[in-house]
Amino acid sequence: MKAIVMERVGGPAVMEYVDRPNPEPAAGQVLVQVHAAGVNFMDIGVRQGSLWQEMPLPKTLGVEGAGQVLSVGAGVTDITPGQRVAWVYAPGSYAQQVVVPAAALVPLPDEIDYRTAAAVMMQGLTASHFATDFYPVQPGDIALVHAAAGGVGLLLTQIIKLRGGRVIGRVSSANKVAFAKEAGAEQVIVDTEGAFAAEAIRLSGGEGVHVVYDGSGPKTFQGSLDALRVCGTFCWYGPVLGSPGAIEIMSLPKSIKIGYATFNHHVRTPELLRARTKQLFDWITAGQLSLKIGGEYALADAARAHTDLESRKTSGKLLLLP
Ligand SMILES: NC(=O)c1ccc[n+]([C@@H]2O[C@H](COP(=O)([O-])OP(=O)(O)OC[C@H]3O[C@@H](n4cnc5c(N)ncnc54)[C@H](OP(=O)(O)O)[C@@H]3O)[C@@H](O)[C@H]2O)c1
Repeated sequence: MKAIVMERVGGPAVMEYVDRPNPEPAAGQVLVQVHAAGVNFMDIGVRQGSLWQEMPLPKTLGVEGAGQVLSVGAGVTDITPGQRVAWVYAPGSYAQQVVVPAAALVPLPDEIDYRTAAAVMMQGLTASHFATDFYPVQPGDIALVHAAAGGVGLLLTQIIKLRGGRVIGRVSSANKVAFAKEAGAEQVIVDTEGAFAAEAIRLSGGEGVHVVYDGSGPKTFQGSLDALRVCGTFCWYGPVLGSPGAIEIMSLPKSIKIGYATFNHHVRTPELLRARTKQLFDWITAGQLSLKIGGEYALADAARAHTDLESRKTSGKLLLLP
């Protein structure tokens, strides 16, 4: 089979399109034919060597996808060959075949196609965690959503709206404004320099926002703090784009709550994973949540997908179609 393998950490050039032996499922594992694999910023972190350092080289990139079960290992009873499934947080998904622990698989309903499934797993679970568990958005709440035309941002905006909240988006270029508005953002600020806070406060009626969702790196951190109202919540989630550094707790203003949200805490058991994913699939089937696929690439072009995601020119979800 073909796969995208890295022998060393570095830029997109370390991603090689190579032949690999077809994998075999061990006990508790399932072998899947990959129909669509999601491209995520965390893959860039793995490639650059800031994430999953404990996994030895060479590594096959990719953690998310959807496809059809080819065979199952010993002891797997609830997944059968031929079944359509999706997964997230299972390494090796930039490949034509991958083995995934059975407990990490979600069976797909007939209404959900492979592209939709691969597009919604990581970013949809992330967005739903942020808007429901980390900060349960209440009707009337005003949220500031960074990278509002990105994969997470478009889904987060829609879920906040579903919960009755209002969204002020922040994007890096004017051509992304329409995408954020289409997802439900009422106002969209264009900024790359961290100068959005005054505008966000003005648009929130002078008091600041109830919650800020910021995965955009160190440049936006101070502005996000400034944009919060008294007792607001700061949901920080961007390990790959960079940490703001050490925070002196007594420097934190306005009795705010601040935390680093991670999607997998929200789906830490197979039951939670299936229940949370079902909610996303139900919203999609009911027409309440829509996916924007911002780019589809052949597996051989995975390095170009990384370059495009890092360029800040894309919007929505990028997929590889092995
Ligand atoms: N904690 C978690 O559980 C979790 C889960 C998923 C993702 N994440 C994090 O969420 C962020 C987005 O990841 P994603 O894979 O889901 O992709 P994504 O939401 O599609 O994000 C892409 C967006 O990031 C912004 N961006 C790209 N390069 C940037 C740069 N150099 N500096 C600042 N902003 C940049 C761009 O928005 P603008 O150009 O409009 O600003 C782009 O639209 C990453 O930091 C990732 O680590 C965290």
